[in-house]
Amino acid sequence: MLRIAVCVSGGGTNLQAIIDAIKDGNIKNTEIVLVYSNNPNAYALERAKNAGIPSKCISPKSFETRELFNEAFLNTLEEANPDLIVLAGCLVVIPKKVVSKFKNRIINIHPSLIPSFCGTGFYGIHVHEKALERGVRVTGATVHFVDEGTDTGPIILQKAVMIKQDDTPKILQQRVMEEAEWKILPEAINLIAQGKVRVEDRKVYID
Ligand code: GRF
Repeated sequence: MLRIAVCVSGGGTNLQAIIDAIKDGNIKNTEIVLVYSNNPNAYALERAKNAGIPSKCISPKSFETRELFNEAFLNTLEEANPDLIVLAGCLVVIPKKVVSKFKNRIINIHPSLIPSFCGTGFYGIHVHEKALERGVRVTGATVHFVDEGTDTGPIILQKAVMIKQDDTPKILQQRVMEEAEWKILPEAINLIAQGKVRVEDRKVYID
């Protein structure tokens, strides 16, 4: 069994896609052992509750310093003892200590085709605003391992999504989630659970 901890900040539709894929057998041999949120109002917490999954919310705002929060965040993850940490719309900057403790065991879903529209400042709706501003015809989503940089880790899966003339950032965000994110995130988890994902020299090989 692959034990996963899913970190969220908002609506949790990607979390829901994972929960559903486990239920439907599209992700095999996998158990969600923890849903972590930094935001007490995240609807994702409701989704965890409805699915009977343990959840925990700790907000950086309730700590005096970032270091104290980082420590509590690491402790929370270590207590859950996951094999894999899944960032599913998680807005917390993952502390370096967490990245090194869980080397090649943290994955993230990013709503563009990395290396386009990624890095500092490219999160949530801003990614889609920038894609539309630039006038690209194709965008998509990427699942990648998390390293010390922002969106710089080894790429596991990507899926392209066509942009339409009348797209607004909101419409595009929804299409990227439906056509790409909700598919490749469960698929990547399943590949990892089957032991098919290997990282060598910062590149991913799928056996
Ligand atoms: C998704 O677009 C994800 O790629 C981004 O934040 C959004 C989260 O959506 N990082 P949800 O909370 O899974 O509904």
